[in-house]
Amino acid sequence: MSIKSIVILTGAGISAESGIQTFRASDGLWENHRIEEVATPEGFAANPALVHKFYNARRQSLTRVTPNPAHIALATLETAMQNRGDDFLLVTQNVDDLHERGGSRALLHMHGDLKSSKCLGCDWVGPQTGDTSIDTRCTRCDSRATIRPDIVWFGEMPYFMDKIERALQSCDLFVSIGTSGAVYPAAGFVQTAKAYGAKTLELNLEPSAGSLHFDETRLGPAGTLVPAWVDAILKP
Ligand code: OAD
Repeated sequence: MSIKSIVILTGAGISAESGIQTFRASDGLWENHRIEEVATPEGFAANPALVHKFYNARRQSLTRVTPNPAHIALATLETAMQNRGDDFLLVTQNVDDLHERGGSRALLHMHGDLKSSKCLGCDWVGPQTGDTSIDTRCTRCDSRATIRPDIVWFGEMPYFMDKIERALQSCDLFVSIGTSGAVYPAAGFVQTAKAYGAKTLELNLEPSAGSLHFDETRLGPAGTLVPAWVDAILKP
């Protein structure tokens, strides 16, 4: 393996075979809700009870899914690269916890995390295992009705952008897995990595919106493609 530094971006497609529905497979509706209702700050302000209920259901559904071979293969790759002293960073747009449960540690949730909440009153951010509601009090400032899901909604800035940009600028290989390339800034990562000299590879069920920017695209289900790709690059 001659690659010394990898950045991997994942999207909803990597969790599809675990049973989590992708976003753009559902006519602009998420579990029968309009995106504006459940994934914008304005939607939360208009109907916080609905938004709490929506994310409670998604958080609860995590108990019914497990990591698939693609999540596990990425954790295997991370361990192998770290044992060699090489750089590995996994950036996910997903808010599920399947990468962590698959064994990944060098992981950034750029669109937030279902298992985290934050307080609009005091900026507290912390772990969330159970349900939330408009009656949930902040454990730091004790305010009521200020707790919200720690999810990056439309119109909000994704997390860790400085760290991600630096990693993209110094990696040898950028790999995009299971994402439609419809949402920026993640959709532009391939161009940044390429501009700084990285090779670029896409693994997806179908060509993404940004397919033409990749040096190579392999089409198929992530649960098959990702383990095969990891096996190939870990071969001595
Ligand atoms: P999308 O639903 O837009 O795209 C999922 C991609 O995965 C599609 O290109 C599918 O072809 C592909 N796919 C489906 N099943 C697959 C499989 N088994 N193996 C491989 N690929 C498969 O999801 P994202 O690109 O993740 O943002 O969406 C990006 C962002 O849009 C999400 O993070 C979310 C949403 O708005 C926020 O919530 C902020």
